[in-house]
Amino acid sequence: MKIAVFASGNGSNVQALLDNIQSGELLVEIACLITDRPKAFVVERAQAANIPVYAATLKAFESREAWEEAVVAYLEPYTVDYIVLAGFMRILKKPLLSAYPNRIINIHPSYLPAFPGKNGIKDAYEAGVSETGVTVFYVDEGIDTGKMLAQEKIAIDPEWTIAHLAYAVHAVEHRLYTQVLQQIQKEFSGKEEINDI
Ligand code: GRF
Repeated sequence: MKIAVFASGNGSNVQALLDNIQSGELLVEIACLITDRPKAFVVERAQAANIPVYAATLKAFESREAWEEAVVAYLEPYTVDYIVLAGFMRILKKPLLSAYPNRIINIHPSYLPAFPGKNGIKDAYEAGVSETGVTVFYVDEGIDTGKMLAQEKIAIDPEWTIAHLAYAVHAVEHRLYTQVLQQIQKEFSGKEEINDI
């Protein structure tokens, strides 16, 4: 199963996938990284793993749709089966959503539908709730609204600083994203076998 990863930041989730692929735990191939932030640390991580990078700021395009159309064209020869968003900080539009229907997944640092949006960890921390979590879901045109694939709760210790909470959330993310992809990969390879018969 081939995937493209999309990321805009540090890339610790991409790194966890790379590590789990390297160890043989996750049987997928990362065909390329797409980023809207050419200077993001995730670019260095991908380069270190010899993964081709398509880095293009939105500013270089007339519209978000035009950026997406360029990405769809770039992706075409890679024939990826899934797009995996990992800290990609943009809402997807029609060109990508219609090119990969039900084939785009995302991870969010809260127990959705609670705390959607850009600051899932900070919003939960500041709300003073006793638990939060991590959600993996299919991407649709909304903000963190698509069909859920997996969720895990995290109890918040009242003594924790926001850094403690962020650490706990990322630790769950790094494990859960691989688990979901393992599941998708199993279903995917089952279907491929049926097609081969
Ligand atoms: C993660 O918390 C993810 O849930 C959110 O963005 C963050 C990305 O972190 N969508 P990293 O770049 O993978 O370290």
